[in-house]
Amino acid sequence: MDIAILTLFPDMFTGPFSESMLKRAQERGLLSIHLHNIRDYTHDKHHTADDTPFGGGQGMVMKPEPLFEAVKAALSDLGDRPNTPVILLTPQGRPFTQAIAQELSQHPAMVFICGHYEGMDARAEEALATDSISIGDYVLTGGEIPSMAIVDAVARLLPGVLGDDMSAVDDSFATGLLEGPTYTRPAEYRGESVPDVLLSGDHAAVDRWRREQSLRRTYERRPDLLESANLTAADRAYLEKLKAGEVEE
Ligand code: ADE
Repeated sequence: MDIAILTLFPDMFTGPFSESMLKRAQERGLLSIHLHNIRDYTHDKHHTADDTPFGGGQGMVMKPEPLFEAVKAALSDLGDRPNTPVILLTPQGRPFTQAIAQELSQHPAMVFICGHYEGMDARAEEALATDSISIGDYVLTGGEIPSMAIVDAVARLLPGVLGDDMSAVDDSFATGLLEGPTYTRPAEYRGESVPDVLLSGDHAAVDRWRREQSLRRTYERRPDLLESANLTAADRAYLEKLKAGEVEE
């Protein structure tokens, strides 16, 4: 997958993209990140990428000309493939979810525009962005961290990026539910034991326990997710018992 990122602060990406899974994905040729400094597409002596808003008001607005040029160059660099998403990061975008990460992971290439200051000139936004995404209802100083979060969520879904291809399948949210608790050695630590079922070797019982823990955790922490989750009759029966207080800790 090829991802172009248009930013005024390309150095911000150095750390996050040169460690762990994203580093490995790039080394293996599964992911290629193309950073474009928007300031490189300015032509005046001071490399001005922003200006004051017409009509007055606080803050600065990203100028349209460098953005148009930067998007054109980024798309050309990606081979001008048709239907390449050009995604603006903004608190006004559609809320990012695992489903959107899945959707984006199907594209061979995409462009992220990291907004800054009070946003960008509305003409650039209208003409250039095919999509806009927010990573939550709070305001960050720019779209850099949101774009890193989205690249991370999308990259780990690409075949071969995670060590075990199956690991993304059971993720919290991928199933519509949160994952339940997990344990590792030692079997007893500070007087607390790992649940017996996990040491039983009974795979069917382990699967059933995991499913129930997942339902329980979702019910306790994110009950809203249960409304759209794919639940079996057994799941519903378990939840009824849980709600009635008929399930042991
Ligand atoms: N830029 C500033 N805040 C943001 C947010 N919450 N999501 C996406 N882009 C942003």
